[in-house]
Amino acid sequence: NIAYFNDRFIPVDQAVVPIEERGLQLGDGVYEVLCIYNGVPFTLKEHLDRLEQSANAIEIDLPQSKEKLAELAWEGIRKAGIENGTLYMQVTRGTAPRNHLFPENITPNLYLVWKHGAPDFSKYKAEGAAVFTVADERWKNCYIKSINLLPNLLAKEQAKRKGGQEALLVQDEWAKEGSSSNLFIVKNGHFKTPQADHSILKGITRQKLITVLNEHQIKVSEQPISLTEVLEADEVFMTSTTMEVLPVVSVDGKQIGAGKPGDYFRQLTAWYSELVA
Ligand code: PDD
Repeated sequence: NIAYFNDRFIPVDQAVVPIEERGLQLGDGVYEVLCIYNGVPFTLKEHLDRLEQSANAIEIDLPQSKEKLAELAWEGIRKAGIENGTLYMQVTRGTAPRNHLFPENITPNLYLVWKHGAPDFSKYKAEGAAVFTVADERWKNCYIKSINLLPNLLAKEQAKRKGGQEALLVQDEWAKEGSSSNLFIVKNGHFKTPQADHSILKGITRQKLITVLNEHQIKVSEQPISLTEVLEADEVFMTSTTMEVLPVVSVDGKQIGAGKPGDYFRQLTAWYSELVA
Protein backbone atom coordinates (compact mmCIF):
# COMPACT_ATOMS: atom_id res chain seq x y z
CA ASN A 1 0.00 0.00 0.00
CA ILE A 2 1.47 3.31 -1.04
CA ALA A 3 0.59 6.97 -0.83
CA TYR A 4 1.53 10.10 -2.72
CA PHE A 5 1.66 13.56 -1.18
CA ASN A 6 2.18 16.58 -3.44
CA ASP A 7 5.23 15.35 -5.34
CA ARG A 8 6.37 12.04 -3.99
CA PHE A 9 5.40 8.44 -3.44
CA ILE A 10 5.79 7.10 0.10
CA PRO A 11 4.68 3.95 1.98
CA VAL A 12 1.26 4.55 3.58
CA ASP A 13 2.52 3.95 7.12
CA GLN A 14 5.25 6.59 6.67
CA ALA A 15 3.13 9.26 5.02
CA VAL A 16 2.26 12.29 7.14
CA VAL A 17 0.59 15.62 6.37
CA PRO A 18 1.67 19.03 7.71
CA ILE A 19 -0.07 19.99 10.94
CA GLU A 20 -1.64 23.09 9.37
CA GLU A 21 -2.95 21.22 6.38
CA ARG A 22 -6.41 22.73 5.81
CA GLY A 23 -8.03 19.39 5.10
CA LEU A 24 -6.87 18.18 8.49
CA GLN A 25 -7.79 21.28 10.50
CA LEU A 26 -10.80 22.62 8.63
CA GLY A 27 -12.12 19.89 6.39
CA ASP A 28 -11.38 22.26 3.51
CA GLY A 29 -11.20 19.70 0.73
CA VAL A 30 -12.80 17.14 -1.55
CA TYR A 31 -12.14 13.50 -2.38
CA GLU A 32 -12.83 10.50 -4.58
CA VAL A 33 -12.74 6.73 -4.11
CA LEU A 34 -12.09 4.49 -7.11
CA CYS A 35 -11.96 0.73 -7.49
CA ILE A 36 -9.11 -0.94 -9.31
CA TYR A 37 -10.18 -4.11 -11.14
CA ASN A 38 -7.55 -6.30 -12.87
CA GLY A 39 -4.98 -3.52 -12.58
CA VAL A 40 -7.28 -0.93 -14.19
CA PRO A 41 -8.75 2.10 -12.37
CA PHE A 42 -12.48 1.77 -13.14
CA THR A 43 -14.23 4.90 -14.46
CA LEU A 44 -11.09 6.97 -13.82
CA LYS A 45 -12.23 9.73 -16.16
CA GLU A 46 -15.60 10.09 -14.43
CA HIS A 47 -13.95 10.25 -11.01
CA LEU A 48 -11.43 12.88 -12.15
CA ASP A 49 -14.21 14.93 -13.70
CA ARG A 50 -16.21 14.79 -10.46
CA LEU A 51 -13.08 15.60 -8.40
CA GLU A 52 -12.63 18.70 -10.52
CA GLN A 53 -16.31 19.66 -10.20
CA SER A 54 -16.21 19.23 -6.41
CA ALA A 55 -12.95 21.20 -6.14
CA ASN A 56 -14.22 24.01 -8.37
CA ALA A 57 -17.47 24.19 -6.39
CA ILE A 58 -15.39 25.24 -3.37
CA GLU A 59 -13.04 27.44 -5.43
CA ILE A 60 -10.06 25.10 -5.49
CA ASP A 61 -8.20 24.48 -8.75
CA LEU A 62 -6.85 20.95 -9.20
CA PRO A 63 -3.12 21.05 -8.37
CA GLN A 64 -2.37 19.03 -11.53
CA SER A 65 -4.13 18.57 -14.85
CA LYS A 66 -6.56 15.67 -15.08
CA GLU A 67 -4.19 14.04 -17.60
CA LYS A 68 -1.35 14.22 -15.07
CA LEU A 69 -3.61 12.92 -12.30
CA ALA A 70 -4.61 9.99 -14.50
CA GLU A 71 -0.93 9.22 -15.14
CA LEU A 72 -0.27 9.34 -11.40
CA ALA A 73 -3.18 6.98 -10.74
CA TRP A 74 -1.69 4.44 -13.14
CA GLU A 75 1.84 4.96 -11.85
CA GLY A 76 0.76 4.16 -8.29
CA ILE A 77 -1.09 1.04 -9.42
CA ARG A 78 2.11 -0.16 -11.12
CA LYS A 79 4.36 0.78 -8.20
CA ALA A 80 2.12 -0.93 -5.63
CA GLY A 81 1.48 -3.85 -7.98
CA ILE A 82 -2.28 -3.69 -7.44
CA GLU A 83 -4.55 -6.12 -9.25
CA ASN A 84 -7.68 -5.43 -7.26
CA GLY A 85 -7.90 -2.60 -4.80
CA THR A 86 -8.90 0.98 -4.24
CA LEU A 87 -7.49 4.43 -4.90
CA TYR A 88 -8.36 7.35 -2.61
CA MET A 89 -7.76 10.85 -3.98
CA GLN A 90 -7.97 14.01 -1.91
CA VAL A 91 -7.46 17.65 -2.83
CA THR A 92 -7.47 20.35 -0.18
CA ARG A 93 -6.97 24.10 -0.32
CA GLY A 94 -3.42 23.73 0.98
CA THR A 95 -1.28 24.35 4.04
CA ALA A 96 -1.37 27.72 5.85
CA PRO A 97 -1.80 29.15 9.37
CA ARG A 98 -5.32 28.32 10.53
CA ASN A 99 -7.87 30.86 9.31
CA HIS A 100 -11.48 30.52 8.23
CA LEU A 101 -10.77 32.82 5.29
CA PHE A 102 -9.11 31.43 2.17
CA PRO A 103 -5.38 32.23 2.41
CA GLU A 104 -3.95 34.12 -0.55
CA ASN A 105 -1.39 32.50 -2.86
CA ILE A 106 -1.98 29.07 -1.41
CA THR A 107 -1.15 25.92 -3.39
CA PRO A 108 -3.63 23.04 -3.12
CA ASN A 109 -2.47 19.77 -1.61
CA LEU A 110 -2.94 16.49 -3.41
CA TYR A 111 -2.85 13.19 -1.70
CA LEU A 112 -3.46 9.74 -3.04
CA VAL A 113 -3.61 6.36 -1.30
CA TRP A 114 -3.52 3.04 -3.16
CA LYS A 115 -4.66 -0.07 -1.30
CA HIS A 116 -4.67 -3.73 -2.14
CA GLY A 117 -8.11 -5.29 -1.81
CA ALA A 118 -11.49 -3.68 -1.25
CA PRO A 119 -14.14 -3.97 1.47
CA ASP A 120 -15.89 -7.34 1.26
CA PHE A 121 -19.67 -7.18 0.81
CA SER A 122 -20.07 -10.78 -0.42
CA LYS A 123 -22.02 -11.87 2.67
CA TYR A 124 -24.59 -9.11 2.18
CA LYS A 125 -24.75 -9.63 -1.57
CA ALA A 126 -25.64 -13.26 -0.85
CA GLU A 127 -28.04 -12.72 2.05
CA GLY A 128 -29.18 -9.16 1.47
CA ALA A 129 -28.47 -6.13 3.61
CA ALA A 130 -30.44 -4.50 6.39
CA VAL A 131 -30.68 -0.71 6.34
CA PHE A 132 -32.01 1.69 8.95
CA THR A 133 -33.37 5.16 8.30
CA VAL A 134 -31.56 8.12 9.81
CA ALA A 135 -32.66 11.75 9.52
CA ASP A 136 -30.52 13.45 6.87
CA GLU A 137 -28.80 16.23 8.79
CA ARG A 138 -26.27 17.17 6.15
CA TRP A 139 -25.88 20.52 4.45
CA LYS A 140 -27.51 21.67 1.20
CA ASN A 141 -24.54 20.91 -1.09
CA CYS A 142 -24.27 17.13 -0.93
CA TYR A 143 -23.41 17.05 -4.66
CA ILE A 144 -19.93 18.19 -3.59
CA LYS A 145 -17.87 15.19 -2.51
CA SER A 146 -16.54 17.01 0.53
CA ILE A 147 -14.23 15.39 3.08
CA ASN A 148 -16.58 16.62 5.85
CA LEU A 149 -18.23 13.30 6.56
CA LEU A 150 -19.36 13.58 10.19
CA PRO A 151 -23.12 13.30 9.53
CA ASN A 152 -22.42 10.34 7.24
CA LEU A 153 -20.23 8.64 9.85
CA LEU A 154 -22.78 9.18 12.62
CA ALA A 155 -25.56 7.83 10.41
CA LYS A 156 -23.69 4.68 9.38
CA GLU A 157 -22.59 4.02 12.95
CA GLN A 158 -26.21 4.37 14.14
CA ALA A 159 -27.36 1.88 11.48
CA LYS A 160 -24.60 -0.52 12.44
CA ARG A 161 -25.56 -0.43 16.11
CA LYS A 162 -29.07 -1.49 15.11
CA GLY A 163 -27.58 -4.43 13.20
CA GLY A 164 -27.63 -2.85 9.73
CA GLN A 165 -25.03 -2.39 7.02
CA GLU A 166 -26.07 1.04 5.74
CA ALA A 167 -28.08 4.07 6.81
CA LEU A 168 -30.82 5.34 4.54
CA LEU A 169 -30.84 9.13 4.85
CA VAL A 170 -34.35 10.52 4.98
CA GLN A 171 -35.51 14.15 4.62
CA ASP A 172 -39.13 14.58 5.73
CA GLU A 173 -40.84 11.65 3.97
CA TRP A 174 -38.20 11.43 1.21
CA ALA A 175 -35.53 8.75 1.00
CA LYS A 176 -32.44 10.43 -0.47
CA GLU A 177 -29.41 8.13 -0.45
CA GLY A 178 -27.22 6.05 1.84
CA SER A 179 -24.49 7.41 4.08
CA SER A 180 -22.00 6.41 1.37
CA SER A 181 -24.19 5.06 -1.42
CA ASN A 182 -27.10 5.85 -3.74
CA LEU A 183 -30.60 4.38 -3.68
CA PHE A 184 -32.55 2.48 -6.35
CA ILE A 185 -35.96 0.83 -6.06
CA VAL A 186 -37.95 -1.40 -8.42
CA LYS A 187 -41.74 -1.75 -8.34
CA ASN A 188 -43.59 -3.78 -10.98
CA GLY A 189 -40.51 -3.58 -13.21
CA HIS A 190 -40.21 0.22 -12.91
CA PHE A 191 -36.82 1.43 -11.74
CA LYS A 192 -36.51 4.65 -9.77
CA THR A 193 -33.62 6.55 -8.22
CA PRO A 194 -33.72 10.01 -6.65
CA GLN A 195 -32.88 12.83 -9.08
CA ALA A 196 -29.28 14.03 -8.78
CA ASP A 197 -29.89 17.53 -7.48
CA HIS A 198 -27.81 19.26 -4.79
CA SER A 199 -29.28 17.07 -2.03
CA ILE A 200 -27.37 13.91 -3.00
CA LEU A 201 -24.07 12.86 -4.49
CA LYS A 202 -24.36 12.03 -8.18
CA GLY A 203 -22.84 8.57 -7.87
CA ILE A 204 -20.75 7.20 -10.68
CA THR A 205 -22.02 3.68 -9.98
CA ARG A 206 -25.56 5.10 -10.13
CA GLN A 207 -24.81 6.66 -13.51
CA LYS A 208 -23.26 3.45 -14.87
CA LEU A 209 -26.29 1.43 -13.77
CA ILE A 210 -28.74 3.87 -15.36
CA THR A 211 -26.77 3.57 -18.61
CA VAL A 212 -26.62 -0.22 -18.49
CA LEU A 213 -30.35 -0.45 -17.73
CA ASN A 214 -31.15 1.92 -20.60
CA GLU A 215 -29.01 -0.19 -22.92
CA HIS A 216 -31.27 -3.09 -22.01
CA GLN A 217 -34.38 -1.03 -22.79
CA ILE A 218 -35.15 -0.51 -19.10
CA LYS A 219 -35.99 3.09 -18.20
CA VAL A 220 -35.02 4.56 -14.86
CA SER A 221 -37.13 7.41 -13.48
CA GLU A 222 -35.00 10.00 -11.71
CA GLN A 223 -37.47 11.48 -9.27
CA PRO A 224 -38.18 11.80 -5.55
CA ILE A 225 -38.79 8.52 -3.72
CA SER A 226 -40.88 8.48 -0.56
CA LEU A 227 -40.04 6.20 2.32
CA THR A 228 -43.39 4.47 1.77
CA GLU A 229 -42.39 3.66 -1.81
CA VAL A 230 -39.15 2.14 -0.52
CA LEU A 231 -41.05 -0.02 1.97
CA GLU A 232 -43.52 -1.16 -0.71
CA ALA A 233 -40.89 -1.80 -3.41
CA ASP A 234 -40.27 -5.26 -4.87
CA GLU A 235 -36.52 -4.74 -4.69
CA VAL A 236 -34.27 -2.06 -3.21
CA PHE A 237 -30.54 -1.53 -3.87
CA MET A 238 -27.81 0.70 -2.56
CA THR A 239 -24.96 1.41 -4.99
CA SER A 240 -21.43 2.73 -4.67
CA THR A 241 -17.93 2.30 -6.03
CA THR A 242 -16.94 -0.10 -3.25
CA MET A 243 -20.36 -1.74 -2.58
CA GLU A 244 -21.18 -1.96 -6.29
CA VAL A 245 -24.80 -3.15 -6.06
CA LEU A 246 -26.02 -4.13 -2.61
CA PRO A 247 -29.46 -5.76 -2.31
CA VAL A 248 -31.53 -4.38 0.58
CA VAL A 249 -33.91 -6.88 2.16
CA SER A 250 -35.13 -4.89 5.15
CA VAL A 251 -35.62 -1.26 6.12
CA ASP A 252 -36.01 -0.50 9.84
CA GLY A 253 -36.67 -4.20 10.36
CA LYS A 254 -39.52 -4.30 7.81
CA GLN A 255 -39.09 -6.85 5.06
CA ILE A 256 -38.66 -5.64 1.47
CA GLY A 257 -40.23 -7.80 -1.25
CA ALA A 258 -39.51 -11.49 -0.71
CA GLY A 259 -36.91 -10.67 1.96
CA LYS A 260 -34.03 -11.98 -0.10
CA PRO A 261 -31.93 -10.70 -3.03
CA GLY A 262 -34.18 -10.73 -6.09
CA ASP A 263 -33.96 -11.39 -9.82
CA TYR A 264 -33.29 -7.76 -10.75
CA PHE A 265 -30.39 -7.73 -8.30
CA ARG A 266 -28.90 -10.82 -9.93
CA GLN A 267 -29.37 -9.32 -13.39
CA LEU A 268 -27.83 -5.98 -12.41
CA THR A 269 -24.88 -7.69 -10.75
CA ALA A 270 -24.24 -9.73 -13.87
CA TRP A 271 -24.29 -6.59 -16.03
CA TYR A 272 -22.04 -4.74 -13.58
CA SER A 273 -19.51 -7.60 -13.58
CA GLU A 274 -19.33 -7.32 -17.36
CA LEU A 275 -18.55 -3.62 -17.06
CA VAL A 276 -15.67 -4.07 -14.64
CA ALA A 277 -14.24 -7.20 -16.31
N1 PDD B 1 -18.84 7.08 -1.26
N2 PDD B 1 -23.51 8.97 -1.90
C1 PDD B 1 -22.56 9.27 -0.99
C2 PDD B 1 -22.92 10.17 0.14
C3 PDD B 1 -21.28 8.71 -1.12
O1 PDD B 1 -20.32 9.02 -0.22
C4 PDD B 1 -20.98 7.83 -2.20
C5 PDD B 1 -19.64 7.21 -2.40
C6 PDD B 1 -22.01 7.55 -3.12
C7 PDD B 1 -21.80 6.65 -4.31
O2 PDD B 1 -20.97 7.28 -5.27
P1 PDD B 1 -20.08 6.44 -6.28
O3 PDD B 1 -20.99 5.47 -6.98
O4 PDD B 1 -19.55 7.44 -7.22
O5 PDD B 1 -19.05 5.75 -5.47
C8 PDD B 1 -23.24 8.14 -2.93
C9 PDD B 1 -17.49 6.56 -1.34
C10 PDD B 1 -17.41 5.21 -1.93
C11 PDD B 1 -16.84 6.67 0.03
O6 PDD B 1 -17.05 7.69 0.67
O7 PDD B 1 -16.12 5.76 0.45
